[in-house]
Amino acid sequence: MSFRYIGSKARLVEAIAEHIGTPAKNDGMFIDAFCGTGAVAESAAKLGWDIWVNDHLISAGIMAAARLTGQEQAQFKHFGGYDQIVSLLNELKPVQGFIWREYSPASAGMVGIERRYFTEENAGRIDAIRGQINTWKEFDALTDIEEQLLIADLLSAANRVANIAGTYGCFLSKWTSQANGKLVLTPRELKQKSVRVRVTSDDVTNIQAETNDLVYLDPPYTKRQYAAYYHILETISLYDEPEVQGVSGLRPWQEKASDFCYRRRALHSLLDLIRGLNSRRILLSYSEEGHIAIDDLLNSLYQIGSVVPYSLMNVGRYRPNKTASNNNSTVGEYLFVIEKEVQLTSKEMVV
Ligand SMILES: C[S@@+](CC[C@H](N)C(=O)[O-])C[C@H]1O[C@@H](n2cnc3c(N)ncnc32)[C@H](O)[C@@H]1O
Repeated sequence: MSFRYIGSKARLVEAIAEHIGTPAKNDGMFIDAFCGTGAVAESAAKLGWDIWVNDHLISAGIMAAARLTGQEQAQFKHFGGYDQIVSLLNELKPVQGFIWREYSPASAGMVGIERRYFTEENAGRIDAIRGQINTWKEFDALTDIEEQLLIADLLSAANRVANIAGTYGCFLSKWTSQANGKLVLTPRELKQKSVRVRVTSDDVTNIQAETNDLVYLDPPYTKRQYAAYYHILETISLYDEPEVQGVSGLRPWQEKASDFCYRRRALHSLLDLIRGLNSRRILLSYSEEGHIAIDDLLNSLYQIGSVVPYSLMNVGRYRPNKTASNNNSTVGEYLFVIEKEVQLTSKEMVV
């Protein structure tokens, strides 16, 4: 598969879980405030936490929530079950919709630029499946959770056949063998027990945590803007038809430009964020390849509260493809456990 989410903590979840621990009786939620794929939220859910996933990208919230969906939340009563509805979607005929017009070679005739993100057939299948999910939702045949689960399955299927080198920042000029394969949705394994999950797509600065919540922060640490790199996933999720630009067909993304991706703003923004959070315990992931030097970060965090830094194992450096990642070394990942003195909110004082 040519898709790997930049900065995903999939390979570090076990090491991070040791610092999450199991929730005490009066603990609040585990807030994965920059959730991305939701890998860390999923491991917190396994430890027994109620979960709040947030990411300013809608597609990230959808991917993260889908990982936590329980069997009883996805019964698809009108369709005879999850496997049945996925089969119905896989049988749909391709439709010449927005993804076909903008992101397959049909774009040459439609908009004068030949884009090769998906074959015409796969782009048409994405249009057909996304449109059908939307119609079923409009007719109330799907619950919100069921709708999000199917969209997440469509995003995964699209990732498997996208003609890209890791992100949607650009497409490859030559077709890969995966891209020539047929787009097929596959039902995922659902959780046996449902988890209490809240999903938001806010800017992280709007998160209002309670004192007993455990907040996990995994901000971007390089100049790569997720809103631009994953623009097509966002368009499939939103099911809109934005005016896209340039050879890559970028949707307008500047509104979601992240402060953490600018070297000069990153440290300030992170410290402001941590100071503003009302929770007592905060876990922060950061990489030694990031804009902020680890020593500078640590020294600044000491001004806010007590901090214990942990060096997690070295993980493979993000590289757009397998050859490149084999050629290069690993990169150090850190986890900072921050404990703050906090004021109880008036609601908490009454309790
Ligand atoms: C390093 S990734 C998180 C990876 C995630 N922990 C995982 O394991 O997949 C950072 C995420 O932060 C999100 N993000 C960036 N700036 C944000 C902001 N200001 N508010 C909310 N989310 C933001 C990005 O969209 C991206 O998904």
